[in-house]
Amino acid sequence: MTLIKRVVGAVVGLGVVGGVGFLAYAWYPSIAPVSPPAASSFSPEAIHRGQLVAAAGYCAECHTRTDNGGGPRMAGDYKMETPFGDIFSSNITPDPETGIGNWSEAAFKRAMNLGIARDGSQLYPAFPFDHFTKVSDQDVSDLYAYLMSQPAIHRAPRENTVPFPINIRLIGQGFWKLLFFSPGRYRNDPAHDAEWNRGAYLAEGDAHCGACHTPRNALGAEKKSALYDGNVIDGWIAPPLNEHNPTPVVWTEDELFKYLRHGVAPLHGSAAGPMNPIPHEFLSELPESDVRAIAHYYADVDHAAQREGQNQAAVATAMDRSKANLIGPQTDPDARLYQGACAACHYNAGPAPVPGRPELALNNALWLDEPNNLFMVMLHGIGAREGQDGIAMPSFYTGLSDHDMARIAAYLRRTRTNLPPWTDLEKKAAKMRATLKPPPINASH
Ligand code: HEC
Ligand code: HEC
Ligand code: HEC
Repeated sequence: MTLIKRVVGAVVGLGVVGGVGFLAYAWYPSIAPVSPPAASSFSPEAIHRGQLVAAAGYCAECHTRTDNGGGPRMAGDYKMETPFGDIFSSNITPDPETGIGNWSEAAFKRAMNLGIARDGSQLYPAFPFDHFTKVSDQDVSDLYAYLMSQPAIHRAPRENTVPFPINIRLIGQGFWKLLFFSPGRYRNDPAHDAEWNRGAYLAEGDAHCGACHTPRNALGAEKKSALYDGNVIDGWIAPPLNEHNPTPVVWTEDELFKYLRHGVAPLHGSAAGPMNPIPHEFLSELPESDVRAIAHYYADVDHAAQREGQNQAAVATAMDRSKANLIGPQTDPDARLYQGACAACHYNAGPAPVPGRPELALNNALWLDEPNNLFMVMLHGIGAREGQDGIAMPSFYTGLSDHDMARIAAYLRRTRTNLPPWTDLEKKAAKMRATLKPPPINASH
């Protein structure tokens, strides 16, 4: 055999062996369908516990259609726009034809543990199985009991628009998992106490905070090297949750708890945009101790104990910056624009922020590398059921032009922070405006 033939032979041989190995890794058998289990076959305790697991995993958020008038709860067809095309979530009600009614508990468990559907096909990581794999067997079993005892809804989702060849799930998803997925239940870290471990279990698994707060690589996988460094989601920036969080006041356990429990942290601001439903519709169902545990965990992730000594001075500086810019006649036209549009609500004269008048000098909207959140808040407003109970901020969608929004953003960044100015503000304002389709009719609902 010539050398060249030998080399080619070796490469082909390796390819065949690799291909067989890959198939063994990526191919899964179908699990036999079952007739839908009766709700009465589950104990009310299991169903109740499962309801909490569903709340902590926001299943209803991604499995309920919201566009075009919306759809029934858990019946899927929620549109997720990804760089690889639109993916529509599955119906997870117990309907046997269009939902998961004929999935055995083993099939459901395999989907949560490994991201494999009952028929053996690979699921896209838009379904955050890379986090759900950490959920305990007991919690998955309770979750199954809860889902199977919900009303069955007959309704198929729309077709995905993921193009060829990424839509060949066996190969595309198989390789993705080979590269980025490490399956396995959460293991307690003995270096930490029970509360920390409970918080980490929820945050890293069911509550999948990293799915929005960790940047992703070109193939859509979370970058392990940049854990919690922040990411853009539906136009909004989910800020870093580690020591790279740029807001002047360090997120302490107390601030985190208030934010995650009530949607508002007095020394930071409100949970708006994609973060909004998390405290209000989901974490609010959990026992307070679970939310406290998540706060406890992130106060460690961002090293609050070592850094929170700076907080008092940071609040004082922010209040001084605000006061200095609100007193006396304003000759700066940008300041006058702010006075007219915003200052009636956003002014603070005392030593500390007043609830109901968020101190912008402390808010992530002014401190992030990009002005996305500031523009999004101006465009959307904050509904009365978002943020603080019953307290709304009007939408400026029609009230302010892109040019005006850009001037207010530049002014606030210049006077309330010590960070470099943002660039191309008017263009960015227009880009954010274009993400609102259709525009809000009445932001104070
Ligand atoms: C971030 C959005 C998101 C969240 C949160 C989410 N899912 Fe999904 N889920 C999806 C998408 C999208 C799919 C479809 C994936 C695909 O087509 O490959 C899916 C698919 C599934 C499937 C496969 C169904 C089938 O017919 O193949 C199951 C089971 C499932 N999800 C259960 C759950 C449960 C239980 C929860 C809550 C613990 C949950 N999901 C939370 C987005 C989500
Ligand atoms: C669906 C995406 C998404 C998920 C899931 C999510 N977040 Fe967020 N989060 C965001 C966005 C977007 C913001 C910015 C909201 C704003 O500025 O009002 C945010 C803001 C925050 C903030 C405020 C940061 C700051 O500096 O202002 C904290 C703290 C936070 N999230 C914690 C969490 C925790 C803990 C979890 C898991 C329990 C979580 N988030 C899950 C999208 C998400
Ligand atoms: C009518 C009163 C009012 C006006 C006018 C107003 N706001 Fe607000 N704003 C609020 C309230 C109230 C909140 C907190 C809402 C909540 O938590 O429910 C808020 C919150 C915010 C936040 C923080 C959002 C978060 O995620 O934490 C920003 C940023 C903001 N406003 C910017 C502005 C800007 C810029 C203007 C002027 C263009 C403005 N606001 C005008 C009342 C107002």
